[in-house]
Amino acid sequence: MDTKIIKVNPETVDKNLLKDAGDIIRRGGLVAFPTETVYGLGADAFNPEAVKSIFAAKGRPCDNPLIAHIATIGDVEMLVREFPQKAISLAQAFWGGPLTMIMKKRSSVPDVVTASLDTVAVRLPSHSVANALITESKTPIAAPSANISGKPSPTVAEHVICDMQGKIDMIIDGGKSMIGLESTVIDMTQDVPTILRPGGISLEEIREVIGDAEYGGFSSDAPKCPGMKYTHYSPDAEVILYEDFKNIDTKGFKKPCLITFNAEKDERFPLMYSAGESKEEYGARLFYLLRKADLDGADAVFAVLPDKNGIGEAIRNRLLKSAGGKII
Ligand code: TXA
Ligand code: MG
Repeated sequence: MDTKIIKVNPETVDKNLLKDAGDIIRRGGLVAFPTETVYGLGADAFNPEAVKSIFAAKGRPCDNPLIAHIATIGDVEMLVREFPQKAISLAQAFWGGPLTMIMKKRSSVPDVVTASLDTVAVRLPSHSVANALITESKTPIAAPSANISGKPSPTVAEHVICDMQGKIDMIIDGGKSMIGLESTVIDMTQDVPTILRPGGISLEEIREVIGDAEYGGFSSDAPKCPGMKYTHYSPDAEVILYEDFKNIDTKGFKKPCLITFNAEKDERFPLMYSAGESKEEYGARLFYLLRKADLDGADAVFAVLPDKNGIGEAIRNRLLKSAGGKII
């Protein structure tokens, strides 16, 4: 398949450029597009055949449900049969933005979107290009991250091109994803809303709006069950996480790479990448650096594990998954 690649400037979105993209979605095709978190691989959420082809392009297991992306809060009504008060409050506080809410789905939402669950995940992105695409398509867009299943999520169009060229109809290049980590996923069907995946909106921020909320379903510490199949976001290089630099031992590696906040030259590392000046910067560049390590031929990546506050929880979660839980 010939994949069309177009560039759209997020600051001055030229809607004419997105007409084609909207047509592709309405005709049942696949379009990769930028969001503030990571790039998504989108199809018409109400077209089961189109949604099926997302799973094929990514090599994603069919039992992993997708997020439906909308352009206005009112669009939620097309997807859910209940929009609880706490969800309305969170929507008002954090949409558009990196928050995905799980709610009870309408029967019109195809099973292939939700992996036959009775719930659907909904997100309203803040990215101007994502919003213009959804508006132009006149339908909610079901989209996972636009990477091959198991690889780090794409935060620039080059990553999407690398993983998806030839497999999908169009890639919209809208520059860098500013947050760089996927959205916070919160289950709003529980009495106490439960965070299933940490992301750009923290537990503390959510509690400020709705009071009670808790973590569930993931752990920012090493997994308790060692046999658990746990890698994800994985570069080809072995990922090793450290809290204390003193514990690092590079023996046995030919081209180890170091990711750290204050990168002072260290002879043991042929490759050294800066994590940036803050956790926000680390989050924004983490997936980019994991992919860069592969391109630069690293056989090991020693990455610093940040503390759990704010975006730290999400960074730790992605790092632990990419390292299969290994910390030194
Ligand atoms: O930031 C993001 O969320 C990006 C951009 C493209 O919006 N999307 C993304 O999609 O990360 P994906 O498919 O890679 O992750 C969606 C997560 C998965 O962990 C999935 O299991 C969960 O949301 N999910 C989706 N629907 C669900 C449901 N009904 N119940 C529980 N979890 C659900
Ligand atoms: Mg993903």
